[in-house]
Amino acid sequence: MNLFIAESEILEKVKILADKISDDYANKEVVLLGVLKGSFPFLSDLGKALTIPVKVDFIQVRSYRGTNTSGNVELIKQPDATLVKNKNVILVEDIVDTGLTLEFILDYVKKLHPSSVAVATLLYKKEKANIPPDYYAIEIADHFVVGYGMDLDEQYRTLRDIYTIDPVE
Ligand code: IMP
Repeated sequence: MNLFIAESEILEKVKILADKISDDYANKEVVLLGVLKGSFPFLSDLGKALTIPVKVDFIQVRSYRGTNTSGNVELIKQPDATLVKNKNVILVEDIVDTGLTLEFILDYVKKLHPSSVAVATLLYKKEKANIPPDYYAIEIADHFVVGYGMDLDEQYRTLRDIYTIDPVE
C-alpha cells in the first residue's frame, strides 16, 4: 500500500471545490445526496467548507461486477423523496470509475423530480469514466485506491489519506 494523496492535499482541493459550489448555488435550496458508503468523509469535509446552507441525505446502491464491463446496480437505501423534490440535488460520490453506478443513480434520482441534479466526486478516473461529473476535486489515473471513505473488501475506509493498493495484496 503506497501513500497517494495526503489529507492536506485532499482538504485543499475540497476547499477549492466547495468555494465553486458555494458560488454556483448561492440562494438555491440544495440537498447534498451522499452515495454510501464511500462518500462519508468527503461529504463531511465538503459540507463544512461550503458557505451556503444545505440539507443532507444519503442513497446506497450495491454493484455487482462480473469479469465483463457491464455491471449490475441495485438500490439498497432510498433517499427521502420529499426532501429531494423541487430541490437542487448534488450527488456526492467518492470516486467515479466507469460511471455505471452514477448512471443508475442519476436515472433513479431524476424520477424524484428534483429541480436540478449535479454530480460532485472527490476522485475522477477520466480515462475510464463515460459520464463526466459536473464537479470533481482531483483527477487520477486508473489506480485502485483506498482510504478517505474508499475500501477494499470494507477495509481502510477510515484512513485519513488516500493510498494505492494492489487488490491482490
Ligand atoms: P463505477 O460504477 O465504475 O463508476 O464505480 C463507482 C464505485 O465503485 C465507487 O463509488 C466505489 O464504491 C467503487 N470504486 C471504483 N473504483 C474504486 C477504487 O479505486 N477504490 C475503491 N472503490 C472504488
